Amino acid sequence: MNKNIALIISILAFGIAVFSQVRLSSLSAENQELKKQLTDMNSSGEEEEGEYELAVVMSRMQIYFHKLWFAGKNENWELANFYTHELEESIEELIEHNVEDDGVNVSNLAKIMTETPFHNLEKSVKAGVLADFETSYQNMMQTCNQCHQASGHGFIQLQIPQNVAFDNQIFEKKN
Ligand code: HEC
Repeated sequence: MNKNIALIISILAFGIAVFSQVRLSSLSAENQELKKQLTDMNSSGEEEEGEYELAVVMSRMQIYFHKLWFAGKNENWELANFYTHELEESIEELIEHNVEDDGVNVSNLAKIMTETPFHNLEKSVKAGVLADFETSYQNMMQTCNQCHQASGHGFIQLQIPQNVAFDNQIFEKKN
C-alpha cells in the first residue's frame, strides 16, 4: 500500500515536471516570437528614422551652406570656418547613418561625391582667399545639385544665395 502511494506520487511528480517543461519551452517559444516581432519592428523603425534623419540633415546643411556664403563674401573667415565645420559634421553624420532612400545609398554617394569639393572649400576658407572661396563654393553647390539629380531629387536645386535669409544675424566681421 505504502509502496503504491509512493509510486503514484512519483508518477505525479514526473507528470508535473514534464508538464512544466513543456510549458516552459512553449513560453520560451512565445518569447522568441515576441523577440522577433520586436526586432522586426525596430529594424523597420530604423529605416524610417533614416529617412527622417536625411531630411533633417539636409535642411541643416542648407542653412549652414547659406550662411557660409555671406560669411565668406564678407571675408569673415572665422565665421566661415565655423560654418564649414558644421557642414562637415552634417556630411559626416550623413555618411555614418548609412541612409538608403528609394533604393539609392545616399551615404555612399555622399562619401564619393563630397570629398574633393568639400576639401577644396575648406582649404579656400582656411586660406581666406575670396576668389578661391567663390569658386570652391560654386563647385560644392554643384555637388549638392548633382547628388539631388543622382538620387532622384533633381527638382531640389540650389543657387547662390541672393539675400541673407537670417537677418537677425550679422555676417560682417566684428572689429
Ligand atoms: C549624397 C547626396 C546628397 C548631397 C551631397 C546633398 N544632398 Fe540634399 N538631398 C539629398 C536627398 C536624397 C534629398 C531628399 C531627402 C528626402 O527624401 O527626405 C535631399 C534633400 C535636400 C533638401 C530638401 C529638404 C529641405 O529641407 O527642403 C535640401 C534643401 C538639400 N537637400 C540641400 C542640400 C545642400 C545645401 C547640399 C550641399 C551642401 C546637399 N543638399 C547635398 C541628397 C544629397
